[in-house]
Parts: sequence; C-alpha cells; structure tokens
Amino acid sequence: MAEILATGDAMQRALALLGAGEIVAIPTETVYGLAGDATNGGAVARIFEAKGRPRFNPLIAHVADMAMAAQIAGFDPLSRKLAEKFWPGPLTLVLSLLAKSSIHPLATAGLDTIALRMPRGFGGELIARLGHPLAAPSANSSGRISATTAQAVAGDLGARIPLIVDGGPTPVGLESTIVKAEDGRLRLLRPGGIAAEEIEAIAGVELQRGGKAGVEAPGMLASHYAPGAAVRLNATEVMPGEALLAFGPERAAHSYRAAAELNLSPAGDLREAAANLFSHLMELDRSGTATIAVEPIPQQGLGEAINDRLSRAAAPRDMPLG
Ligand code: TXA
Ligand code: MG
Repeated sequence: MAEILATGDAMQRALALLGAGEIVAIPTETVYGLAGDATNGGAVARIFEAKGRPRFNPLIAHVADMAMAAQIAGFDPLSRKLAEKFWPGPLTLVLSLLAKSSIHPLATAGLDTIALRMPRGFGGELIARLGHPLAAPSANSSGRISATTAQAVAGDLGARIPLIVDGGPTPVGLESTIVKAEDGRLRLLRPGGIAAEEIEAIAGVELQRGGKAGVEAPGMLASHYAPGAAVRLNATEVMPGEALLAFGPERAAHSYRAAAELNLSPAGDLREAAANLFSHLMELDRSGTATIAVEPIPQQGLGEAINDRLSRAAAPRDMPLG
C-alpha cells in the first residue's frame, strides 16, 4: 500500500522517488495528480500503467516557472499574456513543442504540441527542487472520477503507487481549463477551474468551443469521470430509490424519496459546487444507489465545467480514455 505523508513531511521522499523514475500522487490546486518525471520514458510509462489507460493519451507537463516553460514550448503573444495572468493556477495552455525540449515523446503521445501548466503550492515547489517538469494526469484509474482528497487516491490507486502526498482537499476541485491559441484566436479544449469568461476578459477575444476539441483532447471523450451508479441530469423530481445530488436552496420535487442526498452548494455558489463535485459524486456512489439524480446547475461561470463533467459522468460507459 502507498505510504501517505503530509505535504510538510513529504518533500524529500517525493524527490527521491521521482529522481529514481518512480511515480507519486501529489496535491495540486485543481485535483490530485499522478506525477512522474516528464523527461523519463519509464516514469511516464508507469503513469499509464498505474492508471490502466487503454491508450497513451498526451499528458499535461507541469512546470515550476517561466524559465522551465521556455525550455519546453514556444509561446505566442496571446498564450504568454494568459500565462502571465493565470500562472501559477488552474489554466493549461496547449503550445508548440520545441525540438530541443527534453520531454519524453511518450508524455506527448508523439504530438508536436504540448499541454503545459504551472501548479500552485506543493507541486510547484517539488518541480522547482527536482529541476524537471512533471507529467501528471489526474490521480484516478482510467475513466473514473478525479480524486480531490488523498483518501480518494488511496482507495483507487493505493496498491499501485509508493507514495501519496496529502495536502488536504484540493481547493478548486475541477481539473484545469485547457485552451489553445491559433493565429490570434483561442479555442476552449476543456472547460475547467478557471471560468471561460475570466479568460476572455484577459484575452480580449472570445473562446471558440466545439470543433476538433474531442480529437485533440482525447481525455474529453465519452465516459470520462464515471461513477459506478447511473447519473440522471437536470432532475426536477426524484424517483424512488435515487440518490440526489442537489444544488442551491430549492429542492427538486419529491426530494423526500432520495435514498441519500448531498448538496453541492446550499447557497448556490458555483465555486463551492466545483470543489465538492467529485467527492460528493463518490460519496453518493458509495451509498449503493443505482441512480444519482442531479438537480440543474446554471451554465455560467464554473457551471460550464461542472456541467461538462456531469454530462460525461452520465454518458454510456464504453471506451474510458482518461
Ligand atoms: O488540473 C489538471 O489539469 C490535472 C492536474 C493533475 O494538473 N491534470 C489533468 O490531466 O487533468 P489529464 O491527463 O487527466 O488530462 C489532460 C488533458 C487530456 O484531456 C489530454 O487529452 C489533454 O489534456 N492534452 C494533453 N496534451 C494535449 C495536447 N498536446 N493537445 C491537446 N490536448 C492535450
Ligand atoms: Mg483525468
């Protein structure tokens, strides 16, 4: 079983393991990541192995600072502006991969682009001390809900990894927002922890949605983020035996029927709802219900990312990819 160490005690052990090509689960501001040295093909392969990924999807490379980022990727002016404003933080930029970069091709799935992000807190410090970027997908088995606590990581991957660094519940609770600049335009590849409106306000251009996003961000496909129970969205009434994932102060009709009930945010706050999303889904799943009914969530701000994850959780369970 994985050793679990608090962030204050874990730095040396994490550095030793990562330096030896091992993988370590670490907290970030978004969700827990399953981290390995992005320049070490063996470490990257261990990540895929531990997650049970059916395919080698490209991973996000996490950097400590702009100097490290500049060794890896080329920044167009728009991406640079977004990095200056939002890094460190829950924004991932898809950039052109530099030929001189030491990123292992398995981490990018052989693409000539790379997804880069600068995490806040323990992860950033760890990367700075290691002196190498870390490849880190969310620390969950392929197709399952992303882990937002060390306990969730332990329950899922604990038997397959040597160390989990416990930084408490992750503050954002959703994966990073992924965007890609193309000829001065900006494409939203994955809604996430920074609302699209916030990015648009800084970029001065509108985010384009849809298009080839599904192909370029394969983790975005099909039944990602799936709990064991079926998920029924936009529930305005509760059916007998269903568990209820509520939002806001008003309840769906017949909510007394709910076998279990958790509220993402009784006050209707979308940030609080994002932070609670995965842990509440997991807890309702553990209640043993066949179906989780989810009350409607407004589509603005972080609601876009919350609804994106919920619709994936509700999708048919073929082909888990991330
Ligand atoms: O918040 C997060 O982003 C977390 C934490 C741990 O940093 N990481 C995370 O990684 O969510 P992962 O592997 O679960 O999702 C990475 C997403 C996938 O959808 C992948 O397809 C996409 O990023 N991606 C990676 N490289 C890409 C590229 N070159 N172009 C387009 N999409 C890419
Ligand atoms: Mg993931």
